[in-house]
Amino acid sequence: MGKLCTGIDIGADAVKFAVCKDGKLLRREKASLPDNVLREGVIVSPAALGQFLKEAVKTLKLKRGACALVLPAAAAFFRRSVMPAMTAENLKLNLPYEFRDYITEERSKYVFDYALLGMERNEAGEPVSMDVMAAAALRETIENYREILKYAGFTLRIAVPEEIAYSNLLRAFEAEHPSQERREYCILDLGHSATRLYFFTGCAHEATQLIDYGCATLDSAIAETYNVDVHMAASYKLANYENALEAESCKSFYAKLAIDLMQALNFYNYNNPENALRDIYFCGGGAQIAPLREAICERISLATHDIAELMPQAEMQEPASPFPAAYGVTLQ
Ligand SMILES: Nc1ncnc2c1ncn2[C@@H]1O[C@H](COP(=O)(O)OP(=O)(O)OP(=O)(O)O)[C@@H](O)[C@H]1O
Ligand SMILES: [Mg+2]
Repeated sequence: MGKLCTGIDIGADAVKFAVCKDGKLLRREKASLPDNVLREGVIVSPAALGQFLKEAVKTLKLKRGACALVLPAAAAFFRRSVMPAMTAENLKLNLPYEFRDYITEERSKYVFDYALLGMERNEAGEPVSMDVMAAAALRETIENYREILKYAGFTLRIAVPEEIAYSNLLRAFEAEHPSQERREYCILDLGHSATRLYFFTGCAHEATQLIDYGCATLDSAIAETYNVDVHMAASYKLANYENALEAESCKSFYAKLAIDLMQALNFYNYNNPENALRDIYFCGGGAQIAPLREAICERISLATHDIAELMPQAEMQEPASPFPAAYGVTLQ
């Protein structure tokens, strides 16, 4: 995408903006969301979200215009399929069948998109089958986002699930760092409402695993320990006020999450016995919590990295979350 484009990732805790041009991350910003805008990834109040984004654009002096949106898991379906080789036109017609187990409404209510990962050919060089990553979302959901973003001054150009945003990031990384060997990656998103593991071979998505709690649970633990509300607890967490991050209740949270992650990795290894996964890349705000990282590193046997290592701009790689999904979505 040659023009300036702002990648937007609307998380449960904060909206992340990545202002990009020609694959370069020029600026990134974050704005913490108030309560009652989102619940479990679903927009509760479109008007409140629109107003919030509009104010964020103003306060952060973001450039209005083209934007690319990361769709939360609640708003999109994603899958990887091997399908018989066919034309792009036929593929569009066939995609809905790939989602028949997921979609509940009639097909015309959805939009479908895909990215071709590879084409298998026979000895004569004729295409036999194709490997695709496909996504579907309710047309209405996309239109709602389009309206909300328009209110804030943005024109929605692209909306893709997180898996595609990370796939874009890996494709760009591999193009810049070519290697003979097939590389495998696990991206670990330590989010607010959930913890997510994304497994990739090169830029091809293999699996996603969800652990259905994240750092919001840490806020609750701090709230209980210090007898404060969750908002106050979140500020204790961010500032490590009174060394809150070392409280026993926090340590239990780190230990539990580390064990759940270890089990998720074991599950992946069990289902993919041929895998050669060696590296895990931390992202999400929880990656900023040192004792959480340490607890995880103790439990897992993979080499741990910061997601910034997969992002191209060295100048942006100070130890702060580089908002990889918001960046990756602009690389479409
Ligand atoms: N510097 C920091 N120190 C401690 N905690 C942090 C820091 N930055 C962010 N966090 C916390 O990390 C958690 C995850 O943040 P993140 O921005 O990834 O969540 P989100 O993307 O809004 O949530 P989700 O992905 O679940 O929708 C939040 O609870 C946030 O408060
Ligand atoms: Mg997030």
